[in-house]
Amino acid sequence: MPDTLTITDNRTGKSYEVDITHDTIRAMDLRKIKVHDDDFGMMVYDPGYLNTTLCKSTVTYIDGDKGILEYRGYPIEQLAEKCDFQEVAYLLMYGELPNQSQLDEWVHSLKMHTMVHENIKEQMAAFRYDAHAMGMFTSTVASLSTFYPEAKQVHCAENRMLQCQRLIAKVPTLAAYAYRHSQGQPYNYPKNDLSYTENFLHMMFKMSDNPYHPDPALVRALDVLFILHADHEQNCSTSVMRAIGSSDADPYSALSGAAGALYGPLHGGANEAVLNMLNEIGDVKNVRDYVAKCKDGEHRLMGFGHRVYKNYDPRARIVKQCADEVFQVTGRNPLLDIALELEKIALEDEYFVKRKLYPNVDFYSGLIYQAIGLPVTMFPVMFAIPRAVGWLAQWQEMMEDEERRIQRPRQIYLGQRERTLVPIEKR
Ligand code: CMC
Repeated sequence: MPDTLTITDNRTGKSYEVDITHDTIRAMDLRKIKVHDDDFGMMVYDPGYLNTTLCKSTVTYIDGDKGILEYRGYPIEQLAEKCDFQEVAYLLMYGELPNQSQLDEWVHSLKMHTMVHENIKEQMAAFRYDAHAMGMFTSTVASLSTFYPEAKQVHCAENRMLQCQRLIAKVPTLAAYAYRHSQGQPYNYPKNDLSYTENFLHMMFKMSDNPYHPDPALVRALDVLFILHADHEQNCSTSVMRAIGSSDADPYSALSGAAGALYGPLHGGANEAVLNMLNEIGDVKNVRDYVAKCKDGEHRLMGFGHRVYKNYDPRARIVKQCADEVFQVTGRNPLLDIALELEKIALEDEYFVKRKLYPNVDFYSGLIYQAIGLPVTMFPVMFAIPRAVGWLAQWQEMMEDEERRIQRPRQIYLGQRERTLVPIEKR
């Protein structure tokens, strides 16, 4: 049996044969379907890209029905249990897990780039005292392109990897600066004898000359959270990274745009929205009423549902375990009871069962961030730090793709045509 699809156009009675590869047809093969020779040809209409593949990729695999997530073929459960974040970052960037000397070299190269230019401090200082951390983060990431103008040389592989290392190393520093600015506290410079996550906690929480030693359980929990958030194939922000990168923009500009997409409450901003929702519910006894309002369409149950997962998000399961470990150190977050009750009621409710709405990664992560002492405005930033690795791995893959073209979707134009302009005094 040939791997082809036969399409009959009932408008003309003509049949067309198009090739099928990887269960996919090429949209351009539909162009030959026309009623008249001078027609533009058939296109595909897919708002929200529900069924459009943007690229071929070897980075991340998801089976949404079975609840499977793998980076470069390794199950997320194994990576979260056995690796630290820098190891997983190497895996995503290079396609293979590092041996010890490769890991040492990678960690060293990241440490060489953790500092940011002193002018960034002045930029941070220009934000209002109550500026949202994600706004400060996206703006300062974009501004890094002005410090590294050579980043424009996006066709040089060596230069690209250098910029990737800079970005992966500097995003925690920018995030910590944003936090310290919001607290009115002086910035802590990176401390390069610490691990990636330990250094991040140091830049966030170290006060004056007092020694700061984060609890190893918190460092480990942060590593796990960062691993879980590192990539998620062609989601909204990653496709923005690819879209901006497709115009040959430098990676700082592209990553800033991707972070902007992540900020929205339907995507990475959901962790902030979940906490606000739990606070609004306020008490376990109010959960049923709140769920009823979700079903009436009054609001969404934040941290629930996913475009791809029609099963329990495997990341949410690990985050839930992680929460228990963190609460042993920090004390139990009182909002956990509301979250557990919400999950229990929603998972039994026909509305959620029928639509296959399960908790996603954002449902429990905010409870951990809050227990660690972060304000809600930092939650999307905590998502953006590790996701920078995924964005960059996907950007690298795109830059090396021979089929890469500038992203430029089509539209169905339904507006007016060929109108004659009436001078303003006669309108
Ligand atoms: N609460 C209540 N109803 C929901 C929810 C929800 N959280 N999510 C989806 N639905 C309903 C929706 O109303 C629709 O119902 P109907 O068929 O009767 O119209 C049906 O389920 C399908 O929803 P959809 O909006 O067509 O699904 P989508 O794939 O376009 O949207 C989503 C996916 C994640 C944006 C959505 O589920 C949502 O808004 N969830 C809440 C926000 C959230 O938690 N986002 C984090 C996503 S995971 C982390 C990340 O990768 O960013």
